[in-house]
Amino acid sequence: MNLVNIGEKRVFVADCDDLCSQVADEVEALLRGGEEVVLGLATGSTPLPLYAELIRRHREEGLSFAKVTSFNLDEYEGIGRDNYRSYWAEMWENLFSHVDIDPEKVHVPPSHFENAEVAAAEYEARIREAGGIDWQLLGIGRDGHVGFNEPGSDGETRTRRVDLADETREDAAPTFGGLEYVPTHAMTMGVGTILEANRIVLIARGAGKKEIVVEALTGDVGPHVPASYLRGHQNVGWFLDYAAAGIDA
Ligand code: GLP
Repeated sequence: MNLVNIGEKRVFVADCDDLCSQVADEVEALLRGGEEVVLGLATGSTPLPLYAELIRRHREEGLSFAKVTSFNLDEYEGIGRDNYRSYWAEMWENLFSHVDIDPEKVHVPPSHFENAEVAAAEYEARIREAGGIDWQLLGIGRDGHVGFNEPGSDGETRTRRVDLADETREDAAPTFGGLEYVPTHAMTMGVGTILEANRIVLIARGAGKKEIVVEALTGDVGPHVPASYLRGHQNVGWFLDYAAAGIDA
């Protein structure tokens, strides 16, 4: 594990195993603290090795999720929870089914709703009722999105219904078996919602993320790169693999 500076921020750079083990240590420290913990969780391929490591610690080392309440960042609009492409299903397959989390304490934004504003406000209210997010995990999209806060999302945005950017839909096309099957909308926590978490951990892996990570860390802060707003938060851990940091291993 190396600590390097990109712009004015110190970032952790390591191989995938080390990154995940370091981030898993943070989660473990919270979970073993004995208090109720509110985790903000992310989907996509980036967190999968972390989730695998947390499952391993649960199975082999007794790490318990009994005191966890979770809030996922986002969900595609219009696909049911029984559809394996939904983020709901993805989370159950890759984490929740394998640990002792209370299903009643799992929250993922709704994919179906009559009134988007009401549904979004309800999600925000649930986060508040839980006491706010202690620890928020993020990946980053190639266009600088966090959650589904696409370029144009400013730092004040709250949970809401959003249009998905073309690039985001293209990235999701293989999973959906073609661009025409990728939803055009989603429900996402806002950048402002995310920034209220006590601690934020962003993981980026792979050379495809290098350009946007550097842009988020060194470019102008603004809605053109929603991840850039993280630089205004006091407690963000940036965890990059060598490829995403553009450093030779
Ligand atoms: C999706 C998710 C994001 C995720 C991003 C990156 O758009 N909504 O939360 O960070 O994809 O995905 P991946 O980790 O597969 O690169």
